[in-house]
Amino acid sequence: MKMKKICVIGCSGFIGSHLVDRLLKENRFYIVGIDKACDKIQQCIPHPLFEFHKKDAAVLSECADLVQQCDIVISLAAICNPVHYNTIPLEVIQSNFTAPLQLVQFCAAYDKWLIHFSTSEIYGKTIQGIGGSNIKKSASSEIYLLGEDTAPLILGPVSAQRWSYAAAKQLLERVIFAYGTENKLRYTIIRPFNFIGPRMDFIPGIDGEGVPRVLACFIDALLFGKPLQLVNGGSQKRAFTAIDDAIDAIVKIITQPHRAQQQIFNIGNPDNEITIRGLAEQMITIYTSLYPDMKIHTTPITIPAEQLYGKGYDDSDRRVPDITKAQQLLKWKPTVPLYDILYHTIRYYKDYYDKACAA
Ligand code: UGA
Repeated sequence: MKMKKICVIGCSGFIGSHLVDRLLKENRFYIVGIDKACDKIQQCIPHPLFEFHKKDAAVLSECADLVQQCDIVISLAAICNPVHYNTIPLEVIQSNFTAPLQLVQFCAAYDKWLIHFSTSEIYGKTIQGIGGSNIKKSASSEIYLLGEDTAPLILGPVSAQRWSYAAAKQLLERVIFAYGTENKLRYTIIRPFNFIGPRMDFIPGIDGEGVPRVLACFIDALLFGKPLQLVNGGSQKRAFTAIDDAIDAIVKIITQPHRAQQQIFNIGNPDNEITIRGLAEQMITIYTSLYPDMKIHTTPITIPAEQLYGKGYDDSDRRVPDITKAQQLLKWKPTVPLYDILYHTIRYYKDYYDKACAA
């Protein structure tokens, strides 16, 4: 049987690099990787089943030939860091809607199976989070379970530009869905719920600039003896997912086209829901147990959102994935508890940045 060719657009990002690592281990796919950078996939470059092309995937004409050779197209390249949503919203919309729209049209025209990465952000806030009075505070957690094909998508006002990303992602999902119904585009949409693990983001001033996502913000604080900062007190919640669990889900999607096509999947771990304050406390506990001699701030501080993100920031108060569909159709279930992810990831970052700072 002919080996399947998979085009991974954004192969050197956090998710892309873990995905390429795993697909190469499977030894049954040929991978065409496209990215502007290659630092996170250096280890894959010599592999005989991998070819890397340093190109800007936002310009489809630059990589159309490469995409055309492949059977499956995995679309990962995008600005996906909240600090940008309200500060450079036009670039965010360009990166998450205008540019990938061309790719969707290309996949429809050339009959490619598009596996598109959307986001859990498109669920926005809970009704309670926007002040809805029809949900009782004490209601069971089931009301918060977000089903792919049932949950409403509740974003904030246009002036809260935090939602530029979620709105762009949502519109692209609607376009993909419409191409599926009107043009028979073969697609799968993945909504990731806060994937975390080694290689995520950067540490400001060392291998990047600006504000990374919360995991790297807290690691930065721990490594360099700064206080962990809780935006607006840290009562907002997230359900964190181990990157290894997430990659298992993607492999199950790729290998079960008859079950995965024409579907939207939440990929997340509802058992790993925690407040951001709880996350900070857990990371402090793990770091202290691993490195008792390091001087750290053991009490997180509260800061207003505007201090970290600027004007126009807004937040999701809670988002818990309903993963019944992925469990039933893909036979996938996340297995890694939050404590284990954090333990493993903190050790990775400490080793990595100790070496980087010593070099
Ligand atoms: C992220 C990003 O939008 C996307 O990368 C992704 O699509 C999506 O979530 C997802 O993976 O589901 P968010 O969860 O808000 O959004 O990203 P973080 O920057 O990791 O923030 C999580 C929470 O921690 C937010 O409430 C933020 O305000 C808070 N935070 C962040 C702090 O309290 N302190 C910090 O230092 C940084």
